[in-house]
Amino acid sequence: MPRLSDRTRLIASATRRGQGRRPVNPPVERASTMLSDDPASMQDSTPGPVYGLDGTSAARELRAALADLEGASEAFLVPSGLAAVTVPLLALLRPGDEVVTSDAVYGPTRRFLTRHLAARGIATRFHPADASTIDILALFSERTRLLLIESPSSLTFEIVDVPALTAACRARGVLTVMDNTWAAGLAFRPLEHGVDVSVQAVTKYAAGHSDLLMGAIAVQDTEIARAVLHAIEDMGWHVSPDDAWLALRGLRTLPLRYNEALKSALQVAEWLQTQPEVERVLFPPLPGSVGHDLWRRDYAGGAALMGVVMNGGDRATAHALMGALSLFGMGYSWGGFESLITHETPQLAWRQHASALAGQLLRLHVGLEDPADLIADLEKGLKAWRALQDSNLQHPA
Ligand SMILES: Cc1ncc(COP(=O)(O)O)c(C=O)c1O
Repeated sequence: MPRLSDRTRLIASATRRGQGRRPVNPPVERASTMLSDDPASMQDSTPGPVYGLDGTSAARELRAALADLEGASEAFLVPSGLAAVTVPLLALLRPGDEVVTSDAVYGPTRRFLTRHLAARGIATRFHPADASTIDILALFSERTRLLLIESPSSLTFEIVDVPALTAACRARGVLTVMDNTWAAGLAFRPLEHGVDVSVQAVTKYAAGHSDLLMGAIAVQDTEIARAVLHAIEDMGWHVSPDDAWLALRGLRTLPLRYNEALKSALQVAEWLQTQPEVERVLFPPLPGSVGHDLWRRDYAGGAALMGVVMNGGDRATAHALMGALSLFGMGYSWGGFESLITHETPQLAWRQHASALAGQLLRLHVGLEDPADLIADLEKGLKAWRALQDSNLQHPA
């Protein structure tokens, strides 16, 4: 039989579980202690977990579904998307090693690299967000042990050439870990492109309802899988059965939500591009955007997340725009059903390489509302922006 589509696979795995009359969904089994029938079988994990830390039914089913989605031999769960990035680094790096990553990497990941790993003798080199493959490889030293890829990058959405980078890394014995949260394991499959470890914040699209935090780590190679498992065991990481159950429930409808939100995001992005207050929209699926060419070559979809570079402005005009909106919530994170907006210019200051963006940077997450309503809401925001800019021009400070 040909490979079933993702939509079908994510649902078929629910109907093919087990024998006999049974509910479609696994039970929520809350457990620290698991009881055995006899002393000899207490250490036998084949019939199920020996202890609650090993994860009960929903976690096991979620892991299997995520491994299938990612084309992995193993998928592990950790308590947040951030932990999905930090655990493989802890598992694979040793003092004296160096990491190379983008200057536009997710902020808390950067903090982990520069605070936690640096204090343990593991240095990071940051390449400019728009560096070419050659420029990235030129940063490697004999100590470079791992390339951490986040593509598209946070806030400015640059895309790197993953197949070219992984081929070069393999030739040099450098490991690759990719934060693939934007593609949600759907629009891009890192392991198929030579990446050693694919991670995603399940918090975002897989869970999809802004009600839990979780990360997934997908691996093909058995040695790497063992190292990741040991790090998780050694740290004592665990996800709750309730969260695993909710994430599994979200995962069943992931492709529908993801693709629908992308359609709306494209409408919103196309409209924003025509507005005089907007200088540029950073959204790889949008023709002409940063990252569009590589996105077209490598991706089969995209997250409904975009950077909006305004024409000039300042903190006050950005806040006026945000404050005038009623459908876009002001909140961090993305991938849920609801639209969100954040002001991101202050975060650009963390970067080593100065940003070329002249105007204020906003980030929009487009949810599952009607895009026509979202556009009408943004119109109100742009009006508030314009009103404040005009009054600033008339009464300069
Ligand atoms: C690219 C990326 N990776 C990882 C994370 C972390 O996910 P979590 O919020 O589950 O820790 C985020 C969260 O915003 C993110 O944007």
